[in-house]
Amino acid sequence: MISDVGILGLGKAVPNRILTNADLEAMVDTSDEWITTRTGIKQRYIADPEIAASDLGYEAALQALAAAGVKADELDLIIAATTTPDMPFPATACIIQDRLKAKGAAAFDLAAACSGFIYGLEVGRTMVKAGYQRVLVIGVDVISRLIDYSDRSTCVLFGDGAGAAVLGPVETGYGIIASEIGADGSGAGLLHVPAGGSRMPAQLETIENKSHYVKMSGSEVFKFAVRVICDSSNRVLEKAGTACSEVSWFVPHQANVRIIKAAADRLNIDRERIYVNVDRYGNTSAASIPIALTELDEAGQLKSGDLVLLVGFGAGLTWGSALVRWGGMIL
Ligand code: UT7
Repeated sequence: MISDVGILGLGKAVPNRILTNADLEAMVDTSDEWITTRTGIKQRYIADPEIAASDLGYEAALQALAAAGVKADELDLIIAATTTPDMPFPATACIIQDRLKAKGAAAFDLAAACSGFIYGLEVGRTMVKAGYQRVLVIGVDVISRLIDYSDRSTCVLFGDGAGAAVLGPVETGYGIIASEIGADGSGAGLLHVPAGGSRMPAQLETIENKSHYVKMSGSEVFKFAVRVICDSSNRVLEKAGTACSEVSWFVPHQANVRIIKAAADRLNIDRERIYVNVDRYGNTSAASIPIALTELDEAGQLKSGDLVLLVGFGAGLTWGSALVRWGGMIL
């Protein structure tokens, strides 16, 4: 029987250029030791000036379609979760739709910052249920464009990248078996880019004041992240009637290894079941969870029946979780 919604194929893309902690030591007053012990990050990928979100999103989408065995013209919908679109409009999803030649697909962008991919999964899941049979969800951010590379408190954290998943019907009992998304807009000021929108349009003054860059209250976001990872995971596990001990892979948003470890300790998840790649990518915002999932899949680490718990959090403030039972593909 076909009635649940799952991930049929995954893909990822990162730019070629690597920015190491040693490179950052030459740019701001920081050290490899500080970055490593406070964040776990050793390097991140940074897009060259000619690369935009649609370029990385397109590469990840091609891979995900090939892995799913789905042709672009079979897609019904493309969702690009991004806070760094190519331009204010048209949607980056439309630019990708054109490059893929996915003529039958509707396309729109979704802005939920680092929770974007989980928001996209949730919207995509409900759209498949509503009759859109093949939905491509892309998480992509060229977040380096919003970073002040003279601000050591933010520039060491982020990297660019894209990840994508093709969603479609799977056998009953497989796929996304429980999920939630949430927001608390009262925390909007804790992580934001003040200028560049309709409140404070880009102008000479906003450039001079550096208001078009990411501003973050790091320790507040840290505390929010640990709390919300635990609370959201527990709610989704409860919805599924499953215990944390049943989870094969815990794949949280990759922002800081200390956030991941603190949450995993509270949830009582052993280290071997936690996927961590923040050391190699930094925080790639909406791309971090699908990049991690794609790596797990490429390494042959996702077995049919495995329970995979995905948890995102970020600006908004937003969060979201999805518990996925791997497999159940309909051949
Ligand atoms: O996707 C979601 C978005 N973001 C996050 O999830 C980030 C959440 N927050 C964090 O990951 C951490 O709060 C940070 C990594 C950003 C900061 O770590 P922390 O342990 O909370 O450090 P802190 O902000 O309390 O700063 C400690 C000190 C400060 O110096 P003083 O005031 O104690 O003299 C900072 O100025 O570390 C200093 N500092 C640095 N030192 C060297 C901040 N950044 C750096 C740096 N290198 N890059």
